Amino acid sequence: MSDGKTWRPATRAAHGGHDSSMHGDVAPPLRPSTNFARDAANKLIAPGSYSRAESPAYTEPEALLAELEGGAEAMLFASGMAAATAVVMALRPGDRIAAPKVMYWGLRDWLIEFCGQWGIGLDLYDTADPAALGRVLQPGETKLLWIETPANPTWDVLDIAACAAAAKAAGARLVVDSTVPTPVLTRPIAHGADIVLHSATKYLNGHGDVVAGALVAARTDDFWAKIASVRAHGGAVLGPFETWLLQRGMRTLFIRVTRASANALAIARHFEGHPKLKAVLYAGLESHPGHEVARRQMDGGFGGMLSLRLAGGATEALTLVANLRLFVRATSLGGVESLIEHRASIEGPDSPVPPDLLRLSIGIEEPEDLIADLEQALAAV
Ligand SMILES: Cc1ncc(COP(=O)(O)O)c(C=O)c1O
Repeated sequence: MSDGKTWRPATRAAHGGHDSSMHGDVAPPLRPSTNFARDAANKLIAPGSYSRAESPAYTEPEALLAELEGGAEAMLFASGMAAATAVVMALRPGDRIAAPKVMYWGLRDWLIEFCGQWGIGLDLYDTADPAALGRVLQPGETKLLWIETPANPTWDVLDIAACAAAAKAAGARLVVDSTVPTPVLTRPIAHGADIVLHSATKYLNGHGDVVAGALVAARTDDFWAKIASVRAHGGAVLGPFETWLLQRGMRTLFIRVTRASANALAIARHFEGHPKLKAVLYAGLESHPGHEVARRQMDGGFGGMLSLRLAGGATEALTLVANLRLFVRATSLGGVESLIEHRASIEGPDSPVPPDLLRLSIGIEEPEDLIADLEQALAAV
């Protein structure tokens, strides 16, 4: 009998990190209690007294995520934004953050607003310019280098190991938003990241019915303790039902991400060079400028996200979206069903996203059906 130490990540995930030998329940239980009892000697019966600070509901999913990412500890949050903002709130006035110009737009907008208000310096860099990092990292002042790879929604690939080395040389921590590749395809801590961020709303849960976030730390240190304090005092904790749904979703993470990646690659290959398209943006294509780096740091696929740029511009892009029958016209990503979105019109006039770009979140449907839907919609453009 194995003691479990040699089980591979997909095997651990299939069990949701749950130990059925404790109480016999095969499925992880839902644990709604907000407060926890003490014994007659006034000692807590189990670790944790009040669930704004810590909850046994988190124990298994947090331990599973930390294990999948190869980190020391994980923390769940009420949303991906709550997780991201907790990292920034752990900084001090006068500290600086370097973050990409093209990234999850909600976070970029919040950074621009919050950093100005709280005296934190923000330096936005261009992910397509290899020399940009050298210019924005200010030794001794930059405390966080923020990266997202592949980066939403152009899917530029950043070299995590090179970013980690640059951050270290400047005395900064490297935070990697790894929502899109998930630990199935990339484990940023193995490449030198200090903190990994997930919008668990996306692939970790995978069914479009939970808003959740997570952080994983390479090591537990004072900065991690400060983040824990932000969560405990700010109260951006995940509810018990959402935690339970998330743990349930993580049990099928590997099979969902592997299938979505294979589907996305099939679609990207099929439409590359299509006369009505200016470009297919997908790191799995040999023609993608980040393909070699992606091959080095991604294992088992290139993810389920890709973008199409229409040769005819924004009008043709919106017509294509209108013509689709199977793809759902909706925001978000990482669910089992395929979604499509015209990001520029969602993000508004200040968006850096090209107006001819459509972002596709590929689900787990039959790839032939997805290709046929895109073909008929393109034919009518
Ligand atoms: C890459 C990425 N990071 C972070 C977030 C924020 O996560 P949430 O919506 O769970 O707050 C999103 C949301 O779309 C995202 O796509």
